[in-house]
Amino acid sequence: MKVPFSPPFIDQDVINEVLSTLESGWITSGPKVKALEEEVCKLTSVSHTVCVNSWTSGAILVLKWFGVKEGDEVIVPAYTYSATALAVIHCGATPVMVDINEDFTVDTSKIEQAITNKTKVIMPVDIAGWPCDYDAINELVNAPSRIKVFNPESEKQKQLGRILVISDAAHSIGATYKGLQSGNLTDITIFSFHAVKNITTAEGGAICLNLPESFNNDEEYKLMKLFTLNGQNKDAFTKSQAGGWKYDILFAGLKVNMPDICAAIGLAQIRKYNDLLLVERERVARRYQNFFSQYSFFQLPILEDKERKSCFHLYALRINSISEEKRDLIIESVTKTGVSVNVHFIPMPMLTVFKDRGYKIEDFPIAYDNYSREISLPIYPQLTDDEVDYICTAILTSYKKVIQSND
Ligand SMILES: Cc1ncc(COP(=O)(O)O)c(C=O)c1O
Repeated sequence: MKVPFSPPFIDQDVINEVLSTLESGWITSGPKVKALEEEVCKLTSVSHTVCVNSWTSGAILVLKWFGVKEGDEVIVPAYTYSATALAVIHCGATPVMVDINEDFTVDTSKIEQAITNKTKVIMPVDIAGWPCDYDAINELVNAPSRIKVFNPESEKQKQLGRILVISDAAHSIGATYKGLQSGNLTDITIFSFHAVKNITTAEGGAICLNLPESFNNDEEYKLMKLFTLNGQNKDAFTKSQAGGWKYDILFAGLKVNMPDICAAIGLAQIRKYNDLLLVERERVARRYQNFFSQYSFFQLPILEDKERKSCFHLYALRINSISEEKRDLIIESVTKTGVSVNVHFIPMPMLTVFKDRGYKIEDFPIAYDNYSREISLPIYPQLTDDEVDYICTAILTSYKKVIQSND
């Protein structure tokens, strides 16, 4: 049996939505993007969403919007995909990495220790679709002692008057924390709609605005839309209307808008997200949970507790008391059965670009421990129960083979 890791969900509704876009005569940013932004607002209960062409470009845009620049610091967990820190580097600022908790979320006590008068932003990451402790993080940035050390330089920083919290919610659309949807747990949330994500536009992302009262979210939405289009005061759709040719460039924006042809895929998916796609993901996750809970040598991911519910983006299984080398051998053996698995993530300090900048994995022991024992299993709506059972057997058999061969 061949089981791919994460094929996109493409049904007849997705195909029809894409075809209707092609036939409409308009394929770049226009009505489909607007409709997707409205659907994201509906799903998450946020008032404003800006669609962009990736999480990464969305993060660069938000950091630039906030005036993050050389000399500034942005606190990020060491355990994430490198885009989280690269977005910071692209703005000329320094990513300050901190360690994580055993459940993959950022360690708030480590954030507290890392805050300096150069800290402009904190970016928690909802690994696998499991939300961070946002109450603790929001409390931290609103504490009078933190506000006192905050050194606002840009207009937006002065307007906020404290450290900005941007949730890296690349994985967490549909997850909940204390009854609230991911999207309105912090000042700004960014989702990824990359091909492997719970909702995809092939490549894409969405910025959800939930800024405090000192901001007018409607005005910031309009400003960010301009930011996605070179700072141009008219989008191509408006310009294409009769008599609409004249435009101005108001500032040096980016060019990171989402095209309608991409939005069409996500639009068809988001309409059936809660009632179908998320339900099917949960079915797969619970079936894994039932199987692996029979064996004490597996550490199961948390899917739900009193305050949080995952959106089942990844199924991050860990193996107790195993070395990185043996974990790699298990992956090699599983791969031979036709099952594609993955590891989320190689902690950033283990990657060349960050090693070259002086980050050391020894400073992040929990990140290393989680990485060295982790295997991400396939999880997506199309996966049948039979396929899930086949994957379970492949993992168990491979584990036993590797352990016995080393005894
Ligand atoms: C945690 C995390 N943040 C950011 C990104 C970047 O997303 P994108 O590929 O949409 O730029 C990813 C992509 O996989 C991710 O996993």
